[in-house]
Order: sequence, then C-alpha cells, then structure tokens
Amino acid sequence: MALGDLPTGEEKRVRVREMFDRIAPRYDALNRIVSLGLDQRWRRRALAKIQVGAGDLVVDLACGTGDFCELVEALGARAIGVDFAREMLRQAAARGLRFPKVQGDGEWLPFATASVDAVTCGFALRNFVSLEAVLREIARIVRPGGRIALVDVDRPVWGPLRAAHSLYFDRLVPLVGGLLSDRSAYKYLPKSTAYLPAPEVLRTMLSGAGFLELEREIVLLGSAQILTGVRGPLTPVGGRSR
Ligand SMILES: C[S@@+](CC[C@H](N)C(=O)[O-])C[C@H]1O[C@@H](n2cnc3c(N)ncnc32)[C@H](O)[C@@H]1O
Repeated sequence: MALGDLPTGEEKRVRVREMFDRIAPRYDALNRIVSLGLDQRWRRRALAKIQVGAGDLVVDLACGTGDFCELVEALGARAIGVDFAREMLRQAAARGLRFPKVQGDGEWLPFATASVDAVTCGFALRNFVSLEAVLREIARIVRPGGRIALVDVDRPVWGPLRAAHSLYFDRLVPLVGGLLSDRSAYKYLPKSTAYLPAPEVLRTMLSGAGFLELEREIVLLGSAQILTGVRGPLTPVGGRSR
C-alpha cells in the first residue's frame, strides 16, 4: 500500500506525538475494542516466547499506557517504559502503574550499550519515523543473547479474509473510534499499516541490525504479528565479531 498523504520525516514525528497526547485518555478502552480484547493475550504470548522472567531488565519501547510493562512486572522482571508522548505516560501513572517512565524517542534511547536483557514494543513499529534507526538503537542497548519481542497489527493474506478484515479495520474501527474518541486518529490507524515493511523486508532489517533466531508468528488469522529475536554478538567498530 502506498503512503499517499501520510506524513513522513519530522512532520510524522510531530503529528504522531500530538495524536497520542490527544487520544491518551481513551486509548485503553479503544485498544480493547479494536483488538477484540485480544491485545493483552498477544503481549503475554510475546513475553512467553522470549521467556521474560525474574531478574530480567526489560525496556518497553513506546510503552504507551503501560500494558506491556504491567505484564513484565507480573512475571517478576523489572520494566522501564519509554514513550515520547507525555500524556500516554501520564495515563500509565493514572492507572497506578509504578514502573519507571522515561519520556524519550525510540531513535535515541537513554541507556548504555548492551545494558538490558530484553526490549519489547507493542503496536508502534509503524509509528516510528525511521524504523531502521529504531531497530539499530534497540540492538545497541540489548546485551548479546538478550531478546526482543515486537507486536504489531498485520493484514490477512488470503483474499476473502483480507476483505472481511478490511471491512472491520478500515471502516468499522474509524467509525467507532470517531464516535468514542478522535476521528482523525482512528482514520489514521488503518492507514498507518502502509508504513509497515513486508515481512521479508522487516526480517532483513532485523538481521541487519544484529538479531538472530528471528521468528514471526501471525495471530488472529493474520490480523496481528509477533516478531521475536535474539541479539547476536557485538561487532567491534570497523571489524568483524570474534
Ligand atoms: C499504538 S500506541 C502503543 C502503546 C503500547 N505500546 C501498547 O501496546 O498499547 C503507540 C505508541 O508509540 C509511541 N511512539 C510513537 N513513536 C514514538 C517514538 N519515536 N519514540 C517513542 N515513542 C513513540 C506513541 O506515543 C504511542 O504511545
């Protein structure tokens, strides 16, 4: 799908941040409706796949209102949430979630190289200005052998299913979102899937960033995807890994 009138570059960064600041108060309710209540199940599945457990330090990038962080902490691991939209972080605090919250951009993460055990990211890949830059930054902060789990929407491949999904995602979701929250934001949501690279391109980006053992699991008949991987060895600047 072409990007059409979707914003790119710095305009995208500003518009996406403003949009999430605006929809933050009703984000959780709409999220459950849009995913038919399955989004937490997919996050749980992602954490199980990368075996997050006690002692792990997990950065949840684009943490929003804290769904991933809440699940990470329930597993006995430590979570730090990063998001550039202040109102989304405020909403996480208003829910009583106490994980450390950092207002920051995925392209410049305020963590030392190889300092975290895992990075998670839910429903945000298509919102980044440069996905490649974000993946490089994630690869920088995850220690060798550390894991990543990225969850995002997808579109079914099989024609009839794709058409039915499109009816729901492209027509019904913007309608409901417009009634309960913000019209332009929920019109943007289905359109923003156009930013998502094709599976094989995403795979190349992830391996190029330094991730191995890549897996892509599709859920709900192809309407969402869970990507997991393991950080390979650090490559010395200007040389090959030993
Ligand atoms: C669809 S929401 C997902 C929130 C949460 N991860 C979840 O699973 O519900 C996308 C989030 O990505 C954040 N975001 C988008 N671009 C970002 C960036 N460049 N750096 C940090 N956060 C970003 C938005 O502010 C928003 O909270």
